[in-house]
Amino acid sequence: MLGSFEPKNIIVTGGCGFIGSNFVHYVVNNHPGVHVTVLDKLTYAGNPENIAGLPSDRVELVVGDICDAGLLDCIVPGHDAIVHYAAESHNDNSIVDPEPFLRT
Ligand SMILES: NC(=O)c1ccc[n+]([C@@H]2O[C@H](COP(=O)([O-])OP(=O)(O)OC[C@H]3O[C@@H](n4cnc5c(N)ncnc54)[C@H](O)[C@@H]3O)[C@@H](O)[C@H]2O)c1
Repeated sequence: MLGSFEPKNIIVTGGCGFIGSNFVHYVVNNHPGVHVTVLDKLTYAGNPENIAGLPSDRVELVVGDICDAGLLDCIVPGHDAIVHYAAESHNDNSIVDPEPFLRT
């Protein structure tokens, strides 16, 4: 039987959005040994208030773009899992300008 995977340092992209921030709260409340780095561009949909008040020794917010390879080279080392929620989620916006949807 395989052992269970128990990551200790995770990155949550889009962690200031709706689903991502709820996931961050879930991890903080249910997995006391896990540190969360939130990577979020803070678009129209991202709000740092969604993760405000969480313990600073458990949750760190990095404001940045998942498409920024240089930034990822800096922050990914030392993490053992990435949970990916970052997205352009307001689909109507793609009618006016689809480029950010394709890029992200
Ligand atoms: N909300 C739902 O009911 C639902 C249902 C099924 C699937 N999903 C999927 O789950 C994911 C998250 O949905 P959500 O409702 O939480 O969206 P959301 O718009 O609330 O959150 C998206 C987050 O991603 C961030 N973001 C956007 N582009 C980024 C980039 N380039 N780099 C870094 N951060 C970036 C935004 O700032 C925001 O905080 C999406 O892929 C969505 O399609 C959502």
